Amino acid sequence: MTALLDAPTSAAEPTAAPILQARDLTKSYPLGETTVHALRGVSLSVAAGEFVALMGPSGSGKSTLLHLLGGLDLPTSGEVELAGEVISRLSDDRATRLRRDRTGFVFQSFNLIPLLDVTENIALPFTIAGQDPSRGELAARLGDMIELVDLLGKEHHRPDQLSHGEQQRVAVARALVTGPALLFADEPTGNLDYTTGNEILDALWRSCHERGQTIVLVTHDAKAAAYADRVLVVGDGRIRDTIELGRRADHDATVLIGRLAQLGL
Ligand SMILES: Nc1ncnc2c1ncn2[C@@H]1O[C@H](COP(=O)(O)OP(=O)(O)OP(=O)(O)O)[C@@H](O)[C@H]1O
Ligand SMILES: [Mg+2]
Repeated sequence: MTALLDAPTSAAEPTAAPILQARDLTKSYPLGETTVHALRGVSLSVAAGEFVALMGPSGSGKSTLLHLLGGLDLPTSGEVELAGEVISRLSDDRATRLRRDRTGFVFQSFNLIPLLDVTENIALPFTIAGQDPSRGELAARLGDMIELVDLLGKEHHRPDQLSHGEQQRVAVARALVTGPALLFADEPTGNLDYTTGNEILDALWRSCHERGQTIVLVTHDAKAAAYADRVLVVGDGRIRDTIELGRRADHDATVLIGRLAQLGL
């Protein structure tokens, strides 16, 4: 009885609604006479404001899963619901719009435009949409992003005048400048040394912790995954384990490394 009385009511409980849900996703690729089963039935849910990492060995299906979650590709079966919309039920046009308006992507390679400076590269999503990013609210947002990724003073540098870590931070700012509901990052620190990688992870974590940005990060590096609130371990096209780390400002990887060792990873 006491337990019942003490139990928090659902109204009092701060339950963040899921912003992203995957239901029994499979993805198969025909390969000559055979079929590659990249995903064999993945279900997951990500709450708004959560930082989730996907870890697992090479070829386990992490990038495939990220692409399906972000609507870059469609599953063979199952469905993805992003910001309340089931992606596979949308027309191509609406799916493109959903992706453009609600998601941001950061990949291993930075994909910056060499002739554009830092500000212009970050402003690219606005320029492509035919908006003028040099004034008003958009200019304010650009300034805000440059500050978030710690590039004040480098606004007019071109990519070849930046370190690799700075270039990747420009890519992070460009992915975040439109205010996406979800940021997807696939090995964003893969080409970077340890310290430089940490600069990127710090920028991602600040966007999550200080601004409520929801993040799904793919990495094979436990030190990177330790920035997340929760780690999903992917193996052979399935989610093998979930490791709850909680929000921690020190990003200590000890607990995660211990759990991964228990799993034989
Ligand atoms: N377009 C494709 N055609 C055929 N097979 C594919 C294709 N894309 C991925 N695969 C296969 O699907 C499986 C999962 O690939 P995926 O890229 O998702 O792995 P990953 O976990 O991201 O690996 P890594 O850590 O090396 O990036 C692999 O066996 C891969 O060879
Ligand atoms: Mg991959």
